[in-house]
Amino acid sequence: MKTVLSGIRSTGHLHLGNYFGALRNFIELQHKARCFFFIADLHSLTTHPKPEDNRSNIKIILSEYLASGLDPDISVLFIQSSVPEVSELFVLLNMLAYKGELERTASFKDKIRKNPGNINAGLLTYPVLMASDILIHRAHWVPVGKDQEQHLEIARVLARRFNNMYGVSVFPEPQAYNFGEDLVKIPGLDGTGKMGKSEGNGIYLIDDEKTIRKKVMRAVTDSGPVKPNSPMGPEIANLFTLLSVVSEPDVVTHFKEQYNSCTIRYGDLKKQLAADICKHTLPIKAKIEEIYNNEPYLKQVMEQGAEKARTSARQTLELVREAMGVKLF
Ligand code: TYM
Repeated sequence: MKTVLSGIRSTGHLHLGNYFGALRNFIELQHKARCFFFIADLHSLTTHPKPEDNRSNIKIILSEYLASGLDPDISVLFIQSSVPEVSELFVLLNMLAYKGELERTASFKDKIRKNPGNINAGLLTYPVLMASDILIHRAHWVPVGKDQEQHLEIARVLARRFNNMYGVSVFPEPQAYNFGEDLVKIPGLDGTGKMGKSEGNGIYLIDDEKTIRKKVMRAVTDSGPVKPNSPMGPEIANLFTLLSVVSEPDVVTHFKEQYNSCTIRYGDLKKQLAADICKHTLPIKAKIEEIYNNEPYLKQVMEQGAEKARTSARQTLELVREAMGVKLF
């Protein structure tokens, strides 16, 4: 049976990128494989959140996972920091990760460009911690969005290097997984880049109908196609990407035809897009609050998840210690 693992940082509410990039793919798999899903609270520390924000974010994200359909009786649902074995594997794998290859990681370069005042070692070794998350459960498939492709490559390099260096086959090489075929990149509503937590361009699972409509109606567009079959500018292409994720195929075809024949009214497209986003998110939103307020349940889910995750993690760590000779008796 395949093992699946994925996680999301605890840096704020989940947005459509997190949901369609990682979470929904994971939920599709939870009945078919051995599944782990976690809150990457240690990774979040690289940006120095206030302790109280970090704590409340964990509770928010956990409620949002559960409301989205993660079943804690089928999947192992846990907080990264409650499985100390991950941190131990992180230390051990750091011995196999080279400074040069970590410095070349696109996410590291991006972080140091955006935050020159906080280039901490945790940012540099971020992919090694991520590899530890994946390899500690010897995962085969990792549902993630396109932005995590390079991190997955590093996890594969470390798995391969470990197996070769110690002449073992402890780790499978984990593959990024998407339920369709290609990994998805959900664009933001500002006409540029991807939807992100800090970019202010996102729609969150917690947003109400009015907010979603307002955000979508404000999305950047252009002045419209001037001749039939003209190429789409990036803002319009982004709206179509979102539409293709949340709407039925015939809806997408309908608006594409209108675009190609220059009869499209962006206002109509946006109204449809907002309505279709709501179809996915509002049922989740309705459950978030109820779960969030049920602290005993959340606590029980976390304890149960940590225990199961630690059992799995300990087994891997035994093999790793054995292979590296970090075990006297
Ligand atoms: P994070 O918290 O930035 O994002 C969590 C997941 O959401 C996906 N995602 C997107 N997918 C498509 N379009 C978008 N606009 C978009 N924005 C976010 C991400 O690809 C990711 O799958 N390093 C990870 C967290 C992590 C992890 C792991 C993931 C730590 N350890 C082990 C998988 C396995 C991160 O920062 O994701």
